[in-house]
Amino acid sequence: MTAKLEIGGARIAFEDTGSPRSGAATLLLVHGFPLSHAMWRRQIESLAGECRVVAPDLRGYGDTPLGDWPVEGEPPRLDRYAEDLAALIEHLKSDGPVVLVGFSMGGYIALAMERNHAAAYDALVLMDTRAAADDETARATRHKMADNVGEWGAGRVAELMRPKLFANETPEAIVQETVALIAATDPAAIAASQRAMAARPDSTPLLASITKPTLVVVGEHDALSPPAEMRQIADAIPSARFVEIAGAGHMAPVERPEAVNAALAEFAQSL
Ligand code: MLT
Repeated sequence: MTAKLEIGGARIAFEDTGSPRSGAATLLLVHGFPLSHAMWRRQIESLAGECRVVAPDLRGYGDTPLGDWPVEGEPPRLDRYAEDLAALIEHLKSDGPVVLVGFSMGGYIALAMERNHAAAYDALVLMDTRAAADDETARATRHKMADNVGEWGAGRVAELMRPKLFANETPEAIVQETVALIAATDPAAIAASQRAMAARPDSTPLLASITKPTLVVVGEHDALSPPAEMRQIADAIPSARFVEIAGAGHMAPVERPEAVNAALAEFAQSL
């Protein structure tokens, strides 16, 4: 990682690559659960020539420690990550439009940003994510993992998640790269994120009030945030465009980076 920023008791690590010209867009790439900024490797390599590309490790992931979060007696909330990102955006002092790109859990965090820090950035990308809250079954599954991951280890989490993340045709080497990333995650971060995701509110009512340029991107075979559900998100946001990535599952930016990069580059250029 190239940089660290002290925010609210944690040193947030982030990659900050490319500032090609004054006024160029800054893409802030927010990773999913339970991954790190490394999931964006192919976007950073490809897009840094055209945009400033900033990819943080959220609290507890990659090179960022959990710090003093979660605080004893206070249930973890996604707002903690959103506050970190708002402080990071302020620190970046970008001279072009800031595009917040949230993948899956990163999308839930982007919607938390939209609730509390909407003025901090100029455009939004929701990628392979959901606006709805969890139902009771999903919440119970998250709490079970949060309660047991210390004993299970992150390797078991990787094996539990693997069948839902990829399109059938995705090569095993790509699958293994993500499985290894999950297996390397701190179990305490997994527990905190699961509790925070279980507590997230329904963001569906928020969608109609999003006025900034928005791009909605989903893998054709995404089993966790299916295209039909993401199409409804795009339909509910007045200014949203919708792009479906052929041949990808949930991990579209890893599985089909060329198509995802093209969609991001075109969106950034349109701002
Ligand atoms: C993710 O990719 O971030 C997770 O699948 C999100 C979730 O568990 O809902």
